[in-house]
Amino acid sequence: MSTAGIHAGWDAAEERHRALTPPLHTASAYAQPSHAAMRALFARRAEGFAYSRSGNPTTAVLEQRITALEGGIAAIAVASGQAATTIALCALAAPGGHVVASSRLYGGTIELLDDTLADFGVTCTFVDPWDLDAWEAAFTGSTRAALVESIANPGAQLVDLPALSARAHARGVPVVVDSTLATPALYRPGDHGADVVVHSATKYLCGHGTAMAGLIVDTGRFDPRRCPARWPRLTTPSRRFGVTFAHEYDRGGSGMLAHARAQYVTDFGTALPAASAQQILVGIETLDLRMRRISADARTLALRLADRPEVRRVEHPAVPGRPDAHLAARDFPHGTAGVFSLDLAGGEAAAEAFCDALQLWSLAVNIGDARSLVCHPATTTHSHLTETQRAHCGVGPGTVRLSVGLEDLEDLWADLAQALAVAASRQEPARAA
Ligand SMILES: Cc1ncc(COP(=O)(O)O)c(C=O)c1O
Repeated sequence: MSTAGIHAGWDAAEERHRALTPPLHTASAYAQPSHAAMRALFARRAEGFAYSRSGNPTTAVLEQRITALEGGIAAIAVASGQAATTIALCALAAPGGHVVASSRLYGGTIELLDDTLADFGVTCTFVDPWDLDAWEAAFTGSTRAALVESIANPGAQLVDLPALSARAHARGVPVVVDSTLATPALYRPGDHGADVVVHSATKYLCGHGTAMAGLIVDTGRFDPRRCPARWPRLTTPSRRFGVTFAHEYDRGGSGMLAHARAQYVTDFGTALPAASAQQILVGIETLDLRMRRISADARTLALRLADRPEVRRVEHPAVPGRPDAHLAARDFPHGTAGVFSLDLAGGEAAAEAFCDALQLWSLAVNIGDARSLVCHPATTTHSHLTETQRAHCGVGPGTVRLSVGLEDLEDLWADLAQALAVAASRQEPARAA
């Protein structure tokens, strides 16, 4: 993992100046040697770069690197994690398809499914990710994707992906895994049955809170030709592009991603800027190292917090009583990343006092930064959901999300401990019966 994180997708010997790191290509367009060459590119008879909205040499290095890290067959880089989820689901489920999704997702993904994609005719049924029978009951003949987070944001709940994938595959449904929190350094969904992996590379892959990006990886398991009537956009000749995208699989490529790039990335204009791709590539070089240290520190902090009287509950797989402890032991030998949540006994008033009292931890709605971050999901990342939707995500008024960074562990603990002492005096007034 650490070797591929530094080398995959780039060979200095192939570059004119033998640059050790991938150069930043800022060009919008690429000159073709002839009219015939340009025509071949647009007719999809040749590979190459024409215009950076649909492909860029710096971004292509990132695509190859994440493909190698996830053990996939192809990848597309886009402008944000949200764009990655949108485009992956459009490529599989638009128009008019059905998606079954975990009810425990990043709030923005729930809003995307429940509101925006619904406007485009893609329907969604949300299920408890730990209830395999509920997944199975929700699959219909028009279900075109199952969506789950490998480590859920914010409660770090894990998922039994081999079991879920077996049920989905038996019904012909590809499994899409948002693996933003895990990253390939801790968990490769493709090794556990996933068909497609999406990432918000804005988080740990970048690692320093300096660029936004999203990635979609085809793990090579999904072949729409097994159920051609469900994916006519992939299995029949495209009127617009003059090709059948599923034929890409015979050439070792991804029909689904070829379709996604040709249609959705190009039409929606969600290309990743090359400068951002370069920053993500630098971040990935230290990913393996960072994820191990962050996971270990998060585990220590979660266990210490669970012992404090001001804390009603800590949601982290290492905390005693978690039903997914066996999944952590089986599938996550290097840890479960640095995001987890705690519930303060004093409710929202205590959460507010806690967040305001922190000095080293920054109050910010990001995760996966080198800096430790804290936020109150009920009023931020999950604020546009209904109370029931928030409850399914494990987000209540007293819930605080932590994203452990790379500062010294004892400095982080000292700050949490003093903020807990401040929060102890604050209590949400009891509601009238
Ligand atoms: C699990 C998860 N998926 C997707 C996203 C969306 O990513 P982005 O903010 O890069 O669009 C986020 C953002 O917080 C996230 O936490």
